[in-house]
Amino acid sequence: MLRLSGLSKTYPNGTQALADVTLDVPQGEIVAFVGGSGCGKTTMLRLIAGLEQASKGRVELDGETLTAPHPAVGVIFQEPRLLPWLTVAQNIGFGLSALSRAEREARVEEALLRVGLAGYGGRWPRELSGGQAQRVAIVRALVARPKVLLLDEPFSALDAFTRASLHEHLIGLWEAHKPTLLLVTHDVEEAVTLADRVIVLQPKPGRIFAEPTLDLTRPRDKVGHDFADAKRRILAALDGSLQAPSPTRPREEIAGAWW
Ligand SMILES: Nc1ncnc2c1ncn2[C@@H]1O[C@H](COP(=O)(O)OP(=O)(O)O)[C@@H](O)[C@H]1O
Ligand SMILES: [Mg+2]
Repeated sequence: MLRLSGLSKTYPNGTQALADVTLDVPQGEIVAFVGGSGCGKTTMLRLIAGLEQASKGRVELDGETLTAPHPAVGVIFQEPRLLPWLTVAQNIGFGLSALSRAEREARVEEALLRVGLAGYGGRWPRELSGGQAQRVAIVRALVARPKVLLLDEPFSALDAFTRASLHEHLIGLWEAHKPTLLLVTHDVEEAVTLADRVIVLQPKPGRIFAEPTLDLTRPRDKVGHDFADAKRRILAALDGSLQAPSPTRPREEIAGAWW
């Protein structure tokens, strides 16, 4: 169980990026966070990753308080961040030094096969397309078998076709060991395609606005009524989150904005 309790972050310049986020995420759940720019999504992931210290509140994983990067918590960024001087296989095996060489190679091969990149182990990162490189980055994060994987808009730089194929690869990898996935995205369709729960955040300060219920089965039927309905509910909540009053935006101003 990943537990966020009253998690808040105010940066030294006074910006209150995140206020009082409380959330329990059972092991293996996929949670998507959507919300306008500046509502603290990246800040929240950085706090969970231990890359930033909370001003108030805390992050616990199975009862252990996390304050620094932890081997059980992996991160995937928007850009793949592969090490250019290592081959694909070396990039993936980088964090597996505790394993024997044979075990490491077997795990890397198996993972590459699972994402359709069998035979790519000897390539250099510069020889990969953007979608392939991000697939390698996802494999690299998951091959270490983290309990929690944080993904900050990992597919936003890719075209729709590549993105859809990465969604399938991500779910395929997730099914093997069921890590908890926390996915930040601005793509509502992506959230509904991947997540068990979608949480809508609101800005100034960043906090939870709503959690529209999704009642969807896997694999997702993307042309079905339930899928469209889930998308519609999230969009409505997102719309509400941008209209909602905040300490810096009084109710009267919002009422005025209707006219
Ligand atoms: N290192 C920082 N120092 C000061 N303010 C920051 C810093 N990082 C982010 N912010 C501010 O905190 C708020 C939330 O940012 P961020 O977490 O990046 O939001 P999101 O990822 O949802 O767009 C924004 O107002 C942003 O300008
Ligand atoms: Mg961000």
